[in-house]
Amino acid sequence: KKIVLAYSGGLDTSVIIPWLKENYAGAEVIAACADVGQPDDFEAIEKKAYASGASKVYIMDIKKEFLEEYVWPTVKAGAVYEGKYLLGTSFARPLISKKLVEIAKQEGADAIAHGATGKGNDQVRFELTVKALAPEIKLIAPWRMWDMKSREDELVYAEKHGVPIDYKSEENPYPYSMDWNIWHLSHEGDDLENPANAPKDMVYMVTTPPEKAPDVPEYVTIDFEQGVPVAVNGQKMGAVELLTELNAIGAKNGVGIVDIVENRLVGMKSRGIYENPGGAIIMYAHRELEYLCLDRDTFHYKELVANKYAELVYDGKWFSPLREALDAFVNETQETVTGTVKLKLYKGNIMSAGSTSPYSLYSEEYVTFGEDDVYDQTDAEGFINLFGLPLKMRALMKQHAEKA
Ligand code: ARG
Ligand code: SIN
Repeated sequence: KKIVLAYSGGLDTSVIIPWLKENYAGAEVIAACADVGQPDDFEAIEKKAYASGASKVYIMDIKKEFLEEYVWPTVKAGAVYEGKYLLGTSFARPLISKKLVEIAKQEGADAIAHGATGKGNDQVRFELTVKALAPEIKLIAPWRMWDMKSREDELVYAEKHGVPIDYKSEENPYPYSMDWNIWHLSHEGDDLENPANAPKDMVYMVTTPPEKAPDVPEYVTIDFEQGVPVAVNGQKMGAVELLTELNAIGAKNGVGIVDIVENRLVGMKSRGIYENPGGAIIMYAHRELEYLCLDRDTFHYKELVANKYAELVYDGKWFSPLREALDAFVNETQETVTGTVKLKLYKGNIMSAGSTSPYSLYSEEYVTFGEDDVYDQTDAEGFINLFGLPLKMRALMKQHAEKA
């Protein structure tokens, strides 16, 4: 028996290695760690996986694929969960799972294991992806099975089974449950579980708190081609470099902090603080360009699609026929979303500072309050007569009924 484990290098997933070997007699555990941009020491992670009993370790740099195949489509869709959450964890899970499936097939493994708890969304995202891509592979979720209840339980188990423990970081563990990738960093748990508590400054690990940001605004321009960001301040960049640059600029100016009470798929509400400085800039800029380039009907319909798209991504249904169909719609709308957006960043705020596009539908000639000879204002009277006809009919009916 061979099991591929989604491995992070933390205590939770390290303990899972001996636990799997103990509970699936004779099982070989292959640890697979995805580099999605979290600032980890991957060499140390590899060593730790072997020391914890893995028979083989994969470290996969999937940052570029993550941005190009998962993040950009979601940006193009304008998908934001419940009006705030830029889906940072949600769309990383299907890619990580897809990689686990690839490894499982290559290694002839029968099962995939992950370290997500039974109370969260992540378990759903991991498992739906495996079901969609390799229905024959079994799923193992130790957190739903074992009786370890706390960090202390895990430490005892780790010690007994020779899992290396970093006592220094255990003494003063950062109290929040985190998930980190190039698009976002999430913080949940501890004092944040009470939504009446404001986040403490120490929560922020990426972003400068706005009041400590520079006292002068910073301007940044972003170029888009068919809805995809391709350049920062006039400089063409690949996806990873581009987001890294925007993360740095945004973090410095305190933008992209999200504080949300969200509806988890599994029923309860939860509270999270998310840092996504570069993501906030990209989403804002992309929307600015759409204001210029999309016609009214398409823009409004796209809002509905964005909402559904966000829900699908949140719910772990990345590999679903509806998501693929919505992508086809979104891509069609992005044909003309090309141009340059200039933004002003100032102490946690993002403001527009001018956008241009060769496909702009905006016409100064038509909209001007001054003299124009393209729009005949007398046309408006007939238009309003017909457009308002149903309202007039109802008013007349009411008057008639009152009299009767
Ligand atoms: N609540 C967010 C979501 O469901 C973030 C989850 C973070 N996951 C984690 N294992 N810390 O997408
Ligand atoms: C977890 O349960 O692993 C974290 C929270 C979530 O998945 O929503």
